[in-house]
Amino acid sequence: MKVTAVLLAAGQGTRMKSSLPKVLHPLCGKPMLWHVLEALKEAATEKPVVVVGHGAEEVTKYLGESAQTVLQEPQLGTGHAAMQAEPLLRNKTDYIIVTYADMPLLRGETFKRLVETQHLNPGPLSLLTVIAEDPRGFGRIVRKADGTVEAIVEEYVATPEQQKIRELNVGAYCFKADWFWDALHRIQKNPKKGEYYLTDIVEIAVQDNLPVQAVVHDDFIETIGINTRVHLSEAEAAMRQRINRGHMLNGVSMMDPTSTYIEAGVRIGKDTTILPNTYIHGETEIGEGNIIGPNTIIRDTKIGNRCKVLASVLEGAALEDDVDMGPFARLRKGAHLKSHVHMGNFGEVKDSTLHEGVKMGHFSYIGNANIGANTNIGAGTITCNFDGEKKHPTEIGEDVFIGSDTMLVAPVKLGDGARTGAGAVVTKNVPEDTLVVGMPARAIRRLERKTKK
Ligand code: UD1
Ligand code: CA
Repeated sequence: MKVTAVLLAAGQGTRMKSSLPKVLHPLCGKPMLWHVLEALKEAATEKPVVVVGHGAEEVTKYLGESAQTVLQEPQLGTGHAAMQAEPLLRNKTDYIIVTYADMPLLRGETFKRLVETQHLNPGPLSLLTVIAEDPRGFGRIVRKADGTVEAIVEEYVATPEQQKIRELNVGAYCFKADWFWDALHRIQKNPKKGEYYLTDIVEIAVQDNLPVQAVVHDDFIETIGINTRVHLSEAEAAMRQRINRGHMLNGVSMMDPTSTYIEAGVRIGKDTTILPNTYIHGETEIGEGNIIGPNTIIRDTKIGNRCKVLASVLEGAALEDDVDMGPFARLRKGAHLKSHVHMGNFGEVKDSTLHEGVKMGHFSYIGNANIGANTNIGAGTITCNFDGEKKHPTEIGEDVFIGSDTMLVAPVKLGDGARTGAGAVVTKNVPEDTLVVGMPARAIRRLERKTKK
């Protein structure tokens, strides 16, 4: 049984007042369109077809290989939009799900229920409805005396009696494919708006005495459609709550989920605690038993187990196990902190590896460097990695002690067990077990290493 989804995304989204196509507006870090496509994956068996129009170029670019697209030009309504998929799908699929790209909260299981209902329906279509106090401009479901669905009436053509109906058209349908295309062609142009309404297809089935099934959904939140930025913020809050709930049920603690912002797709292991005002974005993966936050921003970062990250900003970085950082530390792309690294306040690390047990307690900048295990970076140490044109590397060995306020003028190498005096400006390589001082730093003594290997 082949099930193919057709997603309507050609409308202008005028009410968003935006130059970005409506369906690309983000919700918990991913475009609205992404959320709908994820949900549809659970119910459809084939690659989806997305009908594009306004902002077609941008939307098509975003979709890449994830969907086929067809252009609707001009945009003459939802019925007309669905019709554009016919050349791609006629005789290619058994069932067709049609839904709107501005309904990002609909869940995969809901689409699945719709398909299952249609599978058992001797008639050609099933649709999703919801009972809600606030109709929000949705189409009304008109039922016959015997309870079967008779029509969907759009709000602005509904009679005052029909406007009182509280069963609403959510905007998700499942059709028998062979019936669908011919029925679409029978939809008449709406005389008032000059558009072809997909919703009129219900009356076509009823005229032919074919049964229409309705799946009445009980979660109104899931059916929030986005027409304005007010709706977008409501959907964002609902999606955030759903994401946080999912993590908590998987064993993640949150002191205050309402001030915890985790994007869709982030992974977090059990017994990790997320403290308030923490933002976790992008391709981030966090292991078990960590304490993250408060006041922390993490993007595209991998964190191992049992780390503590307090009031810090991490971007494109990696932390192994038992790392302790913050408050007020910053990791930029390519920062790699191995196990048991300690990084205190006001430090910045970029494109550098700090090996096991490195300590960097107070305000330092480490860029394009490789720092050996158990080395201590004194307060105020700077890798002078940029000469105005190019970045240069700094190599520091194991068990090195960098004195406070040392300038490491790259490219430069310090051997294992080396030491620098406070305020040293290191312009030349330092052999192992050697103490250098001054500006420019010169060697004054050979050292006896305490932590011999
Ligand atoms: C639509 C339904 C309404 C339902 C509501 C639920 C129709 C006629 N009405 O109304 O019954 O209660 O959704 O959210 O279907 N689109 C195109 N091409 C077009 C027009 C629209 O691709 O020519 C796309 C839009 O990009 C959008 C979707 O179809 O993603 C729905 O269009 P919209 O104008 O938002 O319909 P509603 O007025 O919300
Ligand atoms: Ca809409």
